[in-house]
Amino acid sequence: MKLHITVLPGDGVGPEVTREALRVLRTVLDLHGCDASFEEHLIGGAAIRQFGAPLPEATAHACIESRAVLLGAVGGPEFDSLPAGQRPESGLLALRQALGGYANLRPAIAYRAIADCSPLRPEIIKGADVLIVRELLGGIYFAEPRGFESGSRPGAYNTMRYSEVEIERVTHVAFQQAQKRHRKVTSVDKANVLETSQLWRKTVTRVGCDYPEVKLEHMYVDSCAMRLITHPGSFDVILTENLFGDILSDEAAAISGSLGMLASATIGGKVDLYEPVHGSAPDIAGRGIANPLGAIASAAMLLRHSAGLEQGARDIEDAIREVLDAGHRTADLSSQHPNSGRAGDPGQRGRARRVVSTAEMGALVESAVADVTDRRRAYHAV
Ligand code: IPM
Ligand code: MN
Repeated sequence: MKLHITVLPGDGVGPEVTREALRVLRTVLDLHGCDASFEEHLIGGAAIRQFGAPLPEATAHACIESRAVLLGAVGGPEFDSLPAGQRPESGLLALRQALGGYANLRPAIAYRAIADCSPLRPEIIKGADVLIVRELLGGIYFAEPRGFESGSRPGAYNTMRYSEVEIERVTHVAFQQAQKRHRKVTSVDKANVLETSQLWRKTVTRVGCDYPEVKLEHMYVDSCAMRLITHPGSFDVILTENLFGDILSDEAAAISGSLGMLASATIGGKVDLYEPVHGSAPDIAGRGIANPLGAIASAAMLLRHSAGLEQGARDIEDAIREVLDAGHRTADLSSQHPNSGRAGDPGQRGRARRVVSTAEMGALVESAVADVTDRRRAYHAV
């Protein structure tokens, strides 16, 4: 069966990192004899410029008709003054709604080779491997009513609302992921204050009974924000609602050392959506220095969740590790963090580092993934 993929490079560094993700994705699909087609469309600011809307009909239609969507990033300073509903970000939110994926998987891994890029001490992040499962279609991002109030005391308001069904379905995804990992779910809420969180806690506890082999703990979001940087190794799967997940997943970048490393997959709906966690980074766009590894790792997640190619996904993840181990760094990873105060992993000390461009990094991962695949196949052939 042919795999139809819609590619939405978007704005800022989006097109640069997506190009590299596609290069690696095509190579791995080829290596596995998988037939795929790619169709590119506009979203975000790029779509506003050409069509006057952040999610043109043609883009939405192409996405709905495909097996998976690979997105770069949306947004830019020139659109900041537009009203909320017309901004590039609203195109992304409308796309998420149209595709229906409610479970956003955001892994954060402490790669040994770049431990010194983290603002956290190497002994704190050592071995950390967290998967944030963020509810993506509910909560304060979407609930009505919302708006501005005019009059003598102008104000603004949003509504935080969750239905049991919305909580149940994302909870199942979190527990299923935990079954494949270290069998622990930390459900994050603010149940000491919010009714939505009280419902969240009760529902997660009930659904958790279906998974007796998975350990469930509950944590308040403020406490979790702290523990994530003091004891990142104590987490396996973090399950949380939309806004908390948005905030905690950026914080989790401290574990990996750069927001540019983080990938995401949005599953559960009609069409799955893959995008790096980082934004359009307009300050560095067009200079060929953006880190494509988050986008490339998102392509790996596409292979895993939408193409049934778990091995292809692992090969990409191994290739990323090898390229980092060999000392290659994009600019965001090139300087040791001033607060780390350590030389990082002793095994990495003294190893030459080389700063590479976005395209060079993509090419390095592409050739590494071909090597990884060859070696694995040779090993299994004997
Ligand atoms: C993210 C982003 C988006 C979000 C924005 C661009 C709408 O921050 O994917 O984390 O808030 O979900
Ligand atoms: Mn975010």
